Amino acid sequence: MVIKTALITGASSGIGQAFAEELAIRQTNLILIARSQDKLYRLAKQLQERTPIDVEVMVQDLTEPQAGQKVYDWVQNKGLSVDLLINNAGFGDYGLFDERDLSRQLEMIQLNVTVLVELTHLFLSQMQQRGEGSIINVSSIAGFQPLPYMSNYAATKAFVLSFTEALWAENKDKGIKCLALCPGPTESNFFEAAKFPQSFEDKNNGSLTSANAVVKDALKALDNNHSNVVTGGVTNNFIVNAPRLFPREFLLNAIEKQFRV
Ligand SMILES: NC(=O)c1ccc[n+]([C@@H]2O[C@H](COP(=O)([O-])OP(=O)(O)OC[C@H]3O[C@@H](n4cnc5c(N)ncnc54)[C@H](OP(=O)(O)O)[C@@H]3O)[C@@H](O)[C@H]2O)c1
Repeated sequence: MVIKTALITGASSGIGQAFAEELAIRQTNLILIARSQDKLYRLAKQLQERTPIDVEVMVQDLTEPQAGQKVYDWVQNKGLSVDLLINNAGFGDYGLFDERDLSRQLEMIQLNVTVLVELTHLFLSQMQQRGEGSIINVSSIAGFQPLPYMSNYAATKAFVLSFTEALWAENKDKGIKCLALCPGPTESNFFEAAKFPQSFEDKNNGSLTSANAVVKDALKALDNNHSNVVTGGVTNNFIVNAPRLFPREFLLNAIEKQFRV
């Protein structure tokens, strides 16, 4: 299927921006959504200077109530049809759960889960009427096991993984592809937004995968109609399989030590 138009949430930086850049190279028209107006318009201008595609920008805080419906209505009012929905916007928050701000935890669930479900439901129904379409929901390797000090974040990503894989199975014979993208540590603003302490970054001075490499792997997995893809190499593949190899409490203790600063 030729992807004519893709909608990307969280397109203003990191993995979302890399999706926009790669899809533009593939001549896909784009709908870019995030809160940072300047970044979105700058990106739209750059992409249109490079390739003859249509780029629409919607500045929207997706944690607002009914944000998904607002996005859907905006797309309908513009007369656009979305072939590929990329639910990418998301954030994490590092620290002891009880010490972190509750409203931020609830916003995280709203962004990482609720609006993703809302947008998936709205656009999937339309794709089903057309008998074609694709959805990429961005989960994480954090979705495969609990993460102490990122408890709420990992739980949101476990939701996205489970939800998306189930949708893959429901839709695989209907011309609709659903992919859970599970990146490992990737170059983006994620760690800054999640307020990881410098001491954590010094301790875990591992290499980050480029957002561009993550996106290339994701689009390849989508082409092959996989239900999920783990990006970033063998270490990440080992991490996601660890829950099958070790007792859960053993693993939790090991991760707790790794994530404690
Ligand atoms: N980087 C990693 O290591 C990693 C690993 C696994 C999974 N992921 C996942 O990858 C996805 C993309 O993150 P990233 O790594 O590319 O981080 P990022 O550079 O911080 O990008 C996050 C994107 O989400 C948007 N966003 C945040 N809050 C929003 C809100 N309230 N409303 C609308 N948009 C909002 C941001 O735009 P504005 O600030 O302009 O709104 C930005 O475009 C996330 O779902 C993240 O959980 C990242």
